[in-house]
Order: sequence, then C-alpha cells, then structure tokens
Amino acid sequence: MKHIYEQGTDKTAPVLLLLHGTGGTEQDLLGIAKHIDAEASILSVRGNVLENGMPRFFRRLAEGVFDIEDLKLRTEELNEFIDQAAQQYGFDRSKVVAIGYSNGANIAASLMFHYQDALMGAILHHPMVPLRGLQLPDLSGKEVFIAAGENDPICPPQETKELAELLEGAGASLELLWERYGHQLSRSEIEAAKGWYNKTYKSNS
Ligand code: MLT
Repeated sequence: MKHIYEQGTDKTAPVLLLLHGTGGTEQDLLGIAKHIDAEASILSVRGNVLENGMPRFFRRLAEGVFDIEDLKLRTEELNEFIDQAAQQYGFDRSKVVAIGYSNGANIAASLMFHYQDALMGAILHHPMVPLRGLQLPDLSGKEVFIAAGENDPICPPQETKELAELLEGAGASLELLWERYGHQLSRSEIEAAKGWYNKTYKSNS
C-alpha cells in the first residue's frame, strides 16, 4: 500500500497508524500525529480504493452504505500490510495506535472488529459502525477515544453511540467526546485526543 513511514525518536512510544478520510492522502494527518506525539514513529497509509478519483479504504455503494465484502477484504489487506511494515521497518507490531478520520476511522474500527491484536488502541474522529452482526474479539485492554459531532450529517450520533456500545461490550475502554462542528475534524477535538493520548500512554514518562 502507498504509505509514509517515519521513525520516531522514542522507540518505546506507540506507533501511530494514520488513516485519512475520503479524498485524502497519507499526507493529511501527519501534522496532527506529530502534534499528538512528536516522538512516536508514524505509519501513514493511503487507501487502495478510488471513488471518482478520491482515495478511500473500502468501497461504498452510497453515502453511508458500505460494500461489506470489500470492507472485509480491505480490512484484511490493511492488517497484513501493518504486519509486513512492522517487519520491514522493525517497529513493535503490538504497539500500533490508529488515528483515523471518517472513512479512515471506519476502517480502524473494522480492524478492531475483526482482529483482536490489530491495534493496541485507536483515536477515531467521526466514525460509524463499520458492519453489524459480527462477533467481536475480546477487546479488553484496548483503549479507544472517539470524537463525534452531535450535528454530523455524515456520521449520525446514533451510529457513534452504537459503535461505542459495541466496543465497550467487547471489553474496550472508551472515552467519547461530543462537539457541534458537524463532520469537521476540529482543532478542539485534536486537543482532546492529545490529552487522552498523554493520559493513556504517557502518564509514566
Ligand atoms: C465512509 O464512507 O466511510 C463514511 O461515509 C464517511 C466518509 O465519507 O468517509
């Protein structure tokens, strides 16, 4: 997969897996990742699917209607890519924390839905429920931060609540932030994500 890897100065820090929104690229979330943890290694990936020229991580049939077969395939492909990247770049596969926005948050959630050890944790900006009717793996010990918009027209609040319930039901620890900036990735939710990250992963350092 097309990607950027940047080796961080702190090898004990989580490895930040960056997953952009629809129409984005592997460049989009670099600034945010560095703001959240300037010392962490970064693996930023571009989605392999194109929708009218816009990169995505899986196909959709319509706005908010996902192609589930493709979602499953792409989730597996991304998980394998992270495995390979860990080998190639020599990072700790068990310390990957995703930062995803919108479509990227949805594939990050799908990684957690399908594979117990795909992610150590995740920061999900404006996610939806990637798919329903799946028996989730035991996610105890996984830490998840979700930022959502009460008035988000693309990711309705009900979706966020359902996703939070599913992840918590599988044992994940969850923090949920509600804002009123629609589908925007706001400055304040990035600050809240940074605060959560420091509390979760940096409290001993
Ligand atoms: C998706 O397709 O994953 C969601 O509808 C959000 C987006 O537009 O990326």
